[in-house]
Amino acid sequence: MGRMDGKTAIVTGAARGTGAAIARLFAEEGARVMLGDVRHDLGESVAADLGVSAVYQPLDVSRADDWDAAVGRAREIFGRIDVLVNNAALLHIGSIEETTPEDVERLFRVNQLGPFLGIRAVASAMRETGGGAIVNVASSDGVKGMNGVVAYASTKWALRGITKSAAMELARDRIRVNAVCPEAGNHEMSAPFLPPGIDSKRAAEFNAGQLLPAPEHYGLDDHVRDVARAVLFLASDDCPTATAADLVIDGGLTAGYIQPGLPGAEGGGSRPR
Ligand SMILES: NC(=O)c1ccc[n+]([C@@H]2O[C@H](COP(=O)([O-])OP(=O)(O)OC[C@H]3O[C@@H](n4cnc5c(N)ncnc54)[C@H](O)[C@@H]3O)[C@@H](O)[C@H]2O)c1
Repeated sequence: MGRMDGKTAIVTGAARGTGAAIARLFAEEGARVMLGDVRHDLGESVAADLGVSAVYQPLDVSRADDWDAAVGRAREIFGRIDVLVNNAALLHIGSIEETTPEDVERLFRVNQLGPFLGIRAVASAMRETGGGAIVNVASSDGVKGMNGVVAYASTKWALRGITKSAAMELARDRIRVNAVCPEAGNHEMSAPFLPPGIDSKRAAEFNAGQLLPAPEHYGLDDHVRDVARAVLFLASDDCPTATAADLVIDGGLTAGYIQPGLPGAEGGGSRPR
């Protein structure tokens, strides 16, 4: 028996990376899934690979009319919408002075306005069928600060705020709203911004594994799989009392730092800094 048997879900940004991994896990667990994205060929091919339980839908999350079309089609073919995963996002890396107002607005539209429009679009459909679960994919950059990501981090902090406000407003409709805050994702997202010579996959694996007891046992696919499992946990009936929560999956990155010279420093963390 699957943990998503009988459920239907919309997953945004599902043409590749974490979104594709979430859609795949949902389908394996028995859900019927609508994959939304702006990369149509890629999205169509992921949906085709998942089989009859999946359908691709062109969905630019920053457009309210695209959301209306997606929700209309999901209701038509699935009859109901039980789960929404707001996963689609853009990254921009640059110092504050290098980052333009246009960069900030571009990321705002996809990473912040997009999830707001999505929640707004599915709320009545979920209400009519007795409730649902919404999971917003934020980031460890929405829990801590980091240089170079002012446009991105501000949207991810905002998404946690949206999560809490929506959880409060929608509780009466039996709709739970939670956030997952990963450190790891698709290395292709950050690769275009990294200096030449830096291996984006290795850098992502290093950051995501810093406090793990045996980080060498985990590749990037393992980290992304765990993010998908965290989303599944919150989207399914596994944890019906979780709402307004931030589930941080970051290999301990946001725990703090190891202070050399103080007790416990020697064994703390398994990777040299
Ligand atoms: N990559 C990382 O290192 C990392 C780390 C922490 C959190 N995250 C978060 O994980 C989530 C998934 O990212 P990923 O790592 O799989 O990267 P990714 O770039 O592979 O996935 C993002 C997806 O969003 C889609 N997308 C972009 N603009 C869109 C729009 N307007 N409408 C619909 N879809 C759109 C892209 O086409 C892509 O398929 C994002 O929310 C991201 O912020 C990523």
